[in-house]
Amino acid sequence: MIPVIMAGGSGTRLWPLSRTQYPKQFLALNSDLSMLQETVRRLGNVSQVSLICNEEHRFLAAEQMRVLNQSCSIFLEPVGRNTAPAIALAAIDAVNKGQGSECLLVLAADHVIDDELTFQQVIAQAEPLAQEGMLVTFGIVPQHPETGYGYIRADVSSRVPETKSEEHSAYSVSAFVEKPDLVTAETYLAEGGYYWNSGMFMFRADRYLEELRKFRPDILEACQKSMLNTVADMDFVRVDADAFSACPDESVDYAVMEKTNCAVVLPLDAGWSDVGSWAALWEIKDKDSFGNVLDGDVIAHSTTDSFVMSSNRLVTTLGVDNLVIVDTPDALLVADKSKIEDVKKIVAEIKDND
Ligand code: GDD
Ligand code: MG
Repeated sequence: MIPVIMAGGSGTRLWPLSRTQYPKQFLALNSDLSMLQETVRRLGNVSQVSLICNEEHRFLAAEQMRVLNQSCSIFLEPVGRNTAPAIALAAIDAVNKGQGSECLLVLAADHVIDDELTFQQVIAQAEPLAQEGMLVTFGIVPQHPETGYGYIRADVSSRVPETKSEEHSAYSVSAFVEKPDLVTAETYLAEGGYYWNSGMFMFRADRYLEELRKFRPDILEACQKSMLNTVADMDFVRVDADAFSACPDESVDYAVMEKTNCAVVLPLDAGWSDVGSWAALWEIKDKDSFGNVLDGDVIAHSTTDSFVMSSNRLVTTLGVDNLVIVDTPDALLVADKSKIEDVKKIVAEIKDND
């Protein structure tokens, strides 16, 4: 099994801490290690890791792996083209090395998982299914009608492999819907039988490429071209910039998972959380008795259910509720926690004015 870690996201919803130069996967948000390092550490001892990230972050990625003493191939993307091409690079590399039948364990670099033992057990369960050619997704029981996730409808009548026991069962996927609108997400929750897509997958390298060829030959072709003239430089694998830049931008969810007939879902109950936003980070962090997460030099009076973080000076609050306040040396965010998803609009505005 080859762990494939996708670490090229921009993490804009955690602005102003997460920046273009230093996106969230490289930040230590929930422990002393960065989210990326936690992703690797959680795997236990693995001899080989493929990491795909933006060229701009190569030294951050390499240094963080060096600290863990983890040997690693780091594929450098000249531009982000989302996750379908990123995974294709690692899959093509595996095939080129004669490891086409190896299972790729595709992981996001920005998840928190509390129960690592269960996580490892479910991963071990996935491997024989992936080995048989299935595209395994890991499903989380939904808590609320989140529109930032993919939804998987499990065909509970079809257990894979066919067993009577519900325990440790995988199910065929009867529908995979990436990021539905709120009304649709609410309907799914009311209907039941849906899981959130955790954004982690397991499949054989050659099977992923076969499915990509079926549904998005344009992406496959661009990635194959990008891998023709790679330049190896220490742990870095630099793909052909022109060929990769010409690749369409698409996530694995839209490009393959929504379309394939070979997906199965393995339920995962391991305290999974996608640290996608300040509200999500507030959810998983330890809070004081007023429901506050206070980080850094902060004094809070009559303050409830808030996230207040200061990186360089004293920040004080008085008589406020449900706020996110993040103070960094050059930018301050003050937001209503229930509107925090819209922080990406601020980031877009900053970029437009650049
Ligand atoms: N190398 C590379 N290149 N990595 C990327 C790129 C890219 O262009 N874009 C994103 N990534 C990485 C991110 O750093 C993250 O680790 C992972 O791929 C997933 O990308 P996100 O941008 O965080 O995706 P998402 O959260 O909106 O949606 C995905 O995850 C959800 C669960 O967290 C989907 O798979 C959803 O279906 C899923 O529910
Ligand atoms: Mg995410």
